[in-house]
Amino acid sequence: MTATDKAEALRRRKGGTPISALTAYDYPTARLLDEAGVDVLLVGDSLGMVVLGFPDTTHVTLDHMLHHVAAVARAKPRALVVGDLPIHTYDTPAAAVETARRLAAAGADAVKLEGGLEVIAQIRAVIAAGIPVMGHLGMLPQRVLDEGGYRKKGRTPEQSEAILAGARALTDAGVCAIVLESVVPETARSVSAAIAAPTIGIGSGGETCDGEIAVVTDLIGSFPWFVPPFAQPEADVASEIRLAARRYISRVSPGV
Ligand code: KIV
Repeated sequence: MTATDKAEALRRRKGGTPISALTAYDYPTARLLDEAGVDVLLVGDSLGMVVLGFPDTTHVTLDHMLHHVAAVARAKPRALVVGDLPIHTYDTPAAAVETARRLAAAGADAVKLEGGLEVIAQIRAVIAAGIPVMGHLGMLPQRVLDEGGYRKKGRTPEQSEAILAGARALTDAGVCAIVLESVVPETARSVSAAIAAPTIGIGSGGETCDGEIAVVTDLIGSFPWFVPPFAQPEADVASEIRLAARRYISRVSPGV
């Protein structure tokens, strides 16, 4: 299947079986998640925090993203591989196309970028260049420093209308799906009902969107130092790693 076919198949999931999406940043994790049958593997710029140890996503560069997209693509996933456009690599339509081309050359089937009406020209340019785009509305982590923290979106009528207007514009531009991050459930539900593109929620309530995305380290419990309140861990890999390391140390250095 071509990247465009995969993205089109995702777009057609609207109203059908809910979409399962997870982040992945390396070959073994991508391969394991793909073998488990996840629909979308997002090489998110959350890698800046949960893999590279930065305080937020604003430190992620295109070189970081290319390195990790290539690692995920080497797993040859059946899932749609989406790569995030890092902050300030899509300030103009031409820059967005150049960045998207480099991520696609590294193995991304589609790219994701944050924002609504203010980035619609960039989204249209990338899609016109033949690269599928996933949108991202609601809380936009690349703006965390401008906004002074992570805040729920869609609380006021003005915020809800802005999210809906963005979602409509992104849908008209032809995105394959839209991530709704930290949007209050009522707004996530009404935006999902109003547009033809599938919505994929994170921190936006249960069953309010056409699918869900989780940061893989939140799912498997491998980044215990910060766990968002909406995370629903299914494993405790951090404890397993500590236990294995302690057992190894006892075997190698008995008596320590
Ligand atoms: O970077 C990321 O992991 C994301 C998800 C939170 C949707 O954008």
